[in-house]
Amino acid sequence: MRKKIVAGNWKMNTNLQEGIALAKGVNDALNNTNVNCDVIIGVPFTHLASVNDVIDSSKLGLAAENCADHKSGAYTGEVSAPMVASTGATYVILGHSERRQYYGETSEILKTKVNLALENNLTPIFCIGEVLEERENGSYLEVVKAQIEEALFELSAEDFDKIILAYEPVWAIGTGKTATADQAEEMHAFIRGVIAAKYGETIAENTSILYGGSCKPSNAAELFAKPNVDGGLIGGASLEVESFMGIVTAF
Ligand code: 13P
Repeated sequence: MRKKIVAGNWKMNTNLQEGIALAKGVNDALNNTNVNCDVIIGVPFTHLASVNDVIDSSKLGLAAENCADHKSGAYTGEVSAPMVASTGATYVILGHSERRQYYGETSEILKTKVNLALENNLTPIFCIGEVLEERENGSYLEVVKAQIEEALFELSAEDFDKIILAYEPVWAIGTGKTATADQAEEMHAFIRGVIAAKYGETIAENTSILYGGSCKPSNAAELFAKPNVDGGLIGGASLEVESFMGIVTAF
């Protein structure tokens, strides 16, 4: 059976000390709570090694929010997949709409990043999602299908099976406007069908597909109740222990 997962994406928030305190807070809360899903926090590069030192990796997974599209070399300011792996992180968020939109990350670049992540035993949490115009003009299913095909469909079945997907409609990110549970379910079921057509039913059934975009304690349970919604990728609400745990315990 596929995993249920709640993952935080802190984005460019918290300084190192605040980040360590937040990670400890989540870790402590998990020690005192029965949870029915895997829990991951995605933190800035600068925080990874220190956060890894204060969390129990058997209870709380650690993700980077990006990695470079090169293994090593003269790429000033970049952080490679081997560097991320050396901090103890075991996941990496790739293809976030903010990376696509503000840093020009194309499917071609993302394909390289996914391969480097997998080569370094990092599990990609691969984000896809349409912008408002594509939602409104009805092309949203095709847009998301193309994002998946372009970046991931050259993977072997064995490698595709390692990917976690996160559907994040761009119009719902940080806007307070959540996709309805039915809108999320429509897309997640469609994505699973696209995977099944390429890699077969077994792999499609095994793939965790998370929803992201203004997910909060108040709407998580309704979203997670949908058969094809396997958890959430949480931005704003992951920055406080209480709201993040409110979503974790929605399962
Ligand atoms: P918000 O939860 O702040 O809308 O962000 C979602 C997101 O982008 C997670 O990657």
